[in-house]
Amino acid sequence: MNVKKVRKAIIPAAGLGTRFLPATKALPKEMIPIVDKPAIQYIVEEALAAGIEEILIVIGRDKAAIEDHFDKSYELEKDLEERGKTGLLQAVSKISDMADIHYIRQKSPLGLGHAVNKGRVFAEGEPVAVLLPDEIMDCRTPCIRQMIDVYEEYACTVLGVLRVPESEVENYGIVKGEELEKGLYRVIDMVEKPKREEAPSDLAIIGRYVITPEIFEALSEIRPGAGGELQLTDALRLLHAKQGMLARTVEGSRYDSGSKAGFLQATVELALKREDVGPEFRAYLRRMAEEGRI
Ligand code: G1P
Repeated sequence: MNVKKVRKAIIPAAGLGTRFLPATKALPKEMIPIVDKPAIQYIVEEALAAGIEEILIVIGRDKAAIEDHFDKSYELEKDLEERGKTGLLQAVSKISDMADIHYIRQKSPLGLGHAVNKGRVFAEGEPVAVLLPDEIMDCRTPCIRQMIDVYEEYACTVLGVLRVPESEVENYGIVKGEELEKGLYRVIDMVEKPKREEAPSDLAIIGRYVITPEIFEALSEIRPGAGGELQLTDALRLLHAKQGMLARTVEGSRYDSGSKAGFLQATVELALKREDVGPEFRAYLRRMAEEGRI
């Protein structure tokens, strides 16, 4: 089978970030750091580690900081060089050398489906990976790579899913599937943010997708859905009516960094894994536990 390589990724980053006000009054939520790296950098690094070559970030108003972050910063680099801060210099210049990143504006926040549809010209008829920056995935094999592997085998759209507690199904797109082999499902249906009693399962879409190019036709056909927004899940449903679709439970840890609790969990877990701050931070948490403060 001649399957087109997945070379391109779309990262929608146009949301208003109201859950993180007042931090997001002047700072894009995707730029809030987890330890010392903006959330969106984790996502870009995941895409690149998975073999993605070109990235389109869909931005909204007041998101210039994202463009600046991935751009070259001559003054800063010169200053670090002069002061002999080679480690920091490497960390900073690595970011601007990372990849070919393109930007497009979503002028009104009409929903995730609308944001992804901004990538139509960028996709040029190729399959695309879509990564939502609200979810930080910490996986041995990059999360989106696990899904590209399925795409390369079956040549169809692949949704990344994980089981969530029943109390959380109404926050997600939920998939009804038939398990073909361990962790791989044939999608039967999906629904965006169902009420608990109407959810077809507990398999939640976790913000990682590999999608065939026909999605863009479907995105042009959808009408406002859950929350009055143009929903990617509704377009996927239309696509599903025409093409087979799979869902894959991904292996690794997931942090919903779009919620305050999830953001704090990501910060603690990722800090503990770091060689520089990890040992000191672990000792501090131990001390807190011993003193009965947590
Ligand atoms: C979006 C999708 C939803 C998915 C979720 C994952 O919702 O519409 O299907 O489950 O991301 O984070 P949002 O969180 O943007 O409302």
